[in-house]
Amino acid sequence: MMGYALASAARDLGMKVTLISGPVTLPCPKGVELVKIETALEMEVAMQAHFAVANLIIMCAAVCDHRPAERYEKKIRKGQFPENITFVKNPDILKNLGSKKNDCQVLVGFAAETHDVLVSAKKKLKEKKLDWIVANDVSKCEMGFSSQQNEVTLIRSDGLQMNFPLSEKSKIAEDILKVFYTSCQEKAH
Ligand code: C5P
Repeated sequence: MMGYALASAARDLGMKVTLISGPVTLPCPKGVELVKIETALEMEVAMQAHFAVANLIIMCAAVCDHRPAERYEKKIRKGQFPENITFVKNPDILKNLGSKKNDCQVLVGFAAETHDVLVSAKKKLKEKKLDWIVANDVSKCEMGFSSQQNEVTLIRSDGLQMNFPLSEKSKIAEDILKVFYTSCQEKAH
């Protein structure tokens, strides 16, 4: 939901937007190019393919850190179900982009946390070489994944923090997009 709100807000600021999205029932915002993916590996391929020409890259998908080692195309019937399921690590898409970004690109990540929100967000900001991270406390039911509303703190790579109080996700998206847009303009000069 947040990704779609951010895509609309970026379009409204006049940006050319590509939205890389997993399966959701939301309609694609008008004027936005939609790239549909289903798995973390497909998302990684799509992100890498669009990365080089992007000035602003926002990664707000809740990507699974692991996936089952084996993928079954057909239904697994009773009695055929494996006793153990092995998991393998998914690539950290954002971290890989962070290691490749150039001086003109603004890279933004999200940290959806239930505790030690800011500490954990700052750690990810540094580890993934981001310009900004959006810290999101998802322990409260009035905000987070399934809510229409959200409350976030932006943290910049130099430590600057900005709080955005509880509002509709579309309003939060508009407000934080303006900050990222300014950041892009500053980098371009
Ligand atoms: O899951 P985590 O809290 O580490 O996610 C932080 C950021 O990293 C998010 O922006 C998320 O989209 C991104 N991420 C990723 N690839 C993963 C896991 C997370 O790009 N495998």
